[in-house]
Amino acid sequence: MYVDIFTLFPGMFAGPFDESIVKRAQEANLISIAVHDIRDWAPGRHRQCDDTPYGGGGGMVLKPEPIFYAVEAVLDKQPGDPPPCPIVLLTPQGRLFTQEVARELSRLGRLALICGRYEGVDERVREHLVSDEISIGDYVLSGGELAAMVVVDAVTRLLTGALGDPGAVLHDSHASGLLEYPQYTRPAVFRGWAVPEILVSGHHANLARWRREASLRRTWKRRPDLLENAQLCEADRAFLEKLRTGTGQ
Ligand code: 6GU
Repeated sequence: MYVDIFTLFPGMFAGPFDESIVKRAQEANLISIAVHDIRDWAPGRHRQCDDTPYGGGGGMVLKPEPIFYAVEAVLDKQPGDPPPCPIVLLTPQGRLFTQEVARELSRLGRLALICGRYEGVDERVREHLVSDEISIGDYVLSGGELAAMVVVDAVTRLLTGALGDPGAVLHDSHASGLLEYPQYTRPAVFRGWAVPEILVSGHHANLARWRREASLRRTWKRRPDLLENAQLCEADRAFLEKLRTGTGQ
């Protein structure tokens, strides 16, 4: 997968992509990430990339030319050509980034991410360059850079071969629409706190059901909104009914 990131702050991307899973995925050629400085395409001696908004109101707005020129040059796109890949603007006004959107993006061969600044981006970028807008949550960041890193991280770990255990993503919180069950590792007792008996008893027949119920209980307590869209079997529904009536702890 090829990802092109367009930003006024390329230095922000140094750390996060040079560690852990994203680093290994790049080394394994599963993903190639190129960070482009929008300022390199800004016309004029001062390479100005923002300006005051027409009509006043304070703050600065990102100018259209540097963004259009940067994206068109890197994607080898002539003005008016259809986009050769999805061109996503990271903005708090975008559609909400979820695990489902991460899965959708992970199927692409190429993706362009444009990092907005919180004050705003000239609307013509939205109207005539961008094909999608994404927000990572209902709060305001000073720019789209951190959001782009979040998107790249979530997408990278879904690429086949990025994780040591290919089945691991199936158990992730949100993968099935539920929160993940609690995890434990050695020692079996730490400061007198023992791990749940079922995990050390060797009675593995009931383990899948125990984990499923732990997932359901945790989701019901913390994120009941997720249960609306989760894929639930009959046993799940019966267990949730027990929780609701107070007979399932
Ligand atoms: Cl994508 N950008 C900014 N500036 N703030 C955000 C965001 C994006 N997502 C949530 N807050």
